[in-house]
Amino acid sequence: MLALFTSFTVFAQDVALTGDAKKGETLFKNNCTACHALDKKLIGPDLKGIVTSLEEEGVTKEWIHSWVMDNESLRKSGDKRANEIFKEYNEIPMNLFKDVLSDQDLEDILTYVDNPPKEVKKVDAAPVVVKKDEYNSGYVTIGLISIGILLLIVLFKFRRLVKLKLTANVLNEDDEKQVQLVSQLYAKTKQNICGLTVLLLLFAFYGVWAWFMGIGVDKGYEPDQPIYFSHNIHAGVNKIDCQLCHSGAKYGKVSEIPSLSVCMNCHKAIVEYNGDYIEPDKTRDFYTNEIKKIYDYIGWDEANQKYTGAQKPVKWARIHNMPDFVFFNHSQHVVAGEKVIIEDFNKKNANQKIDVVCKACHGQVDTMDKVKMANDFTMGWCVDCHRTTDVDMTNKYNAAYYGKLHEKLAKEYGQDNAKITVDAIGGLECGKCHY
Ligand code: HEC
Ligand code: HEC
Ligand code: HEC
Ligand code: HEC
Ligand code: HEC
Ligand code: HEC
Repeated sequence: MLALFTSFTVFAQDVALTGDAKKGETLFKNNCTACHALDKKLIGPDLKGIVTSLEEEGVTKEWIHSWVMDNESLRKSGDKRANEIFKEYNEIPMNLFKDVLSDQDLEDILTYVDNPPKEVKKVDAAPVVVKKDEYNSGYVTIGLISIGILLLIVLFKFRRLVKLKLTANVLNEDDEKQVQLVSQLYAKTKQNICGLTVLLLLFAFYGVWAWFMGIGVDKGYEPDQPIYFSHNIHAGVNKIDCQLCHSGAKYGKVSEIPSLSVCMNCHKAIVEYNGDYIEPDKTRDFYTNEIKKIYDYIGWDEANQKYTGAQKPVKWARIHNMPDFVFFNHSQHVVAGEKVIIEDFNKKNANQKIDVVCKACHGQVDTMDKVKMANDFTMGWCVDCHRTTDVDMTNKYNAAYYGKLHEKLAKEYGQDNAKITVDAIGGLECGKCHY
């Protein structure tokens, strides 16, 4: 297959390239991609189709070989083209490869870059905005309703026949036939029917149970986003503070997703990805391409460094979302709870260092490439934490309101037992969390 492809490559153009494109691809990635890409200028020129296009300018393959192996000697020898291209690229010297690559290696590379196989582009999935339990519970509901209707139909049929049998001594022919048919069928399939009914019932119970348990539980929910934004690369590798982007968390009810103009504060300058961290199934080009999407959404003309005014809204898929009847306030937790939540979290997770309060609820977001729900965010989860987390008594507000109670408890039960947890200040009252 590969051989076929390679020979096709050779026929498709005039230049005789006889290398192995597959090997060439690996060699190209290891030796050249720091400075060259296939289809855009980096430090050096783009190299896709280079042999063919230079051939058209009257530059031979042999010249390219000499250039790559030892461009310095070629320039010193007074070669016109070598000196021109060197000037054009601001006299940045390219590495010498005469001790690195064999002639065959270079032939392989040139075979690859001259006519690289088309990359199969992944089509971006449309952003998922539906929460996963919404369609799950939809299927379960439809299943349950159909089973119910089926059972009812069977029941009515039987009832009618039994009634007929009891009231009429003599049945007309049709009814007689039906009664016989049903009783014969029943006799034949008695055991099967019993088994099936038990199975259906079990299934139905499981459905109902799973449905109730599953409401609103989205732990692990991890949708694709319109721009592949990695928290690991931003908050982890580059140590950008959560609150630089989610500034609302400390001051308001909602944390908010930053607008693209926040991204542009950095990404006017950071136009491509050059980090060392690369996920196994991704490439640097992939990340760079995602950065370009910001420009597309916000309408930034990179070449002329100005906004075009052609904006498109970016539709981030929402991950955490409480039902409307729940009141949750970030700043209440991030500010008032900052000290105690962190202390309590550290007690339970002794070896997990925590620097920001966010982790107690959202997990180690700074190690996630895609944000994933770290807890199930149910009422039980909120309440559990309120039952076990002490209120910060060094907080002026709390000290003023609960200081007396605290002293009284301390006198009665000793300092260590005088804990005031969130539930003691009303953290379990329905009205605090429900409108
Ligand atoms: C350190 C950066 C760097 C690396 C690594 C590098 N190049 Fe280059 N290359 C350049 C630069 C810069 C130029 C432009 C001329 C100059 O300034 O020297 C160039 C020019 C070229 C040209 C000439 C293009 C033309 O239009 O004449 C070819 C061909 C080329 N490189 C191939 C390769 C191949 C193949 C590899 C890998 C084996 C490679 N380069 C690795 C920086 C690099
Ligand atoms: C450079 C900006 C930036 C930084 C820094 C950042 N985030 Fe985000 N955050 C985003 C963007 C953009 C999204 C929406 C896309 C996504 O979900 O990945 C988001 C989404 C989230 C979500 C999911 C929101 C939802 O839809 O429910 C959580 C939780 C979150 N961030 C927490 C954090 C935490 C915790 C930190 C610090 C460790 C942090 N973020 C640092 C930009 C940032
Ligand atoms: C405080 C500066 C800063 C802000 C603000 C910022 N970024 Fe980045 N971003 C970076 C850095 C640093 C890198 C890594 C660059 C590198 O290593 O070459 C990066 C890389 C990226 C990448 C490629 C890696 C990846 O995560 O997929 C994308 C895409 C990206 N940013 C999108 C965004 C978006 C969208 C926003 C706004 C919500 C944003 N950035 C806000 C600094 C920032
Ligand atoms: C006490 C638990 C808790 C803590 C601590 C917490 N969050 Fe949240 N976060 C939530 C809940 C619950 C939601 C869902 C809120 C909703 O849907 O109304 C949420 C939602 C979010 C969202 C989605 C947008 C929104 O506000 O609905 C982002 C972004 C976010 N949190 C970031 C953060 C950051 C950054 C921190 C740390 C500064 C943080 N959170 C601390 C529980 C918490
Ligand atoms: C990680 C532990 C933790 C989790 C999880 C948590 N809380 Fe809290 N919550 C606290 C702490 C600590 C306080 C007390 C803050 C203070 O000192 O005022 C608090 C206070 C509150 C209050 C104010 C109570 C009052 O009497 O003033 C409300 C309302 C509240 N939380 C709602 C929620 C909801 C809704 C959830 C779930 C979505 C939740 N909390 C999850 C730790 C938590
Ligand atoms: C600490 C905050 C908190 C307190 C206090 C609280 N709830 Fe909830 N409640 C929630 C959250 C959060 C949800 C949504 C859970 C979900 O979406 O999975 C919820 C959901 C519910 C539901 C919907 C069914 C369900 O489980 O999803 C009912 C009914 C309810 N609460 C009743 C009450 C009653 C009655 C009280 C008082 C005894 C109360 N709640 C106290 C946070 C709270």
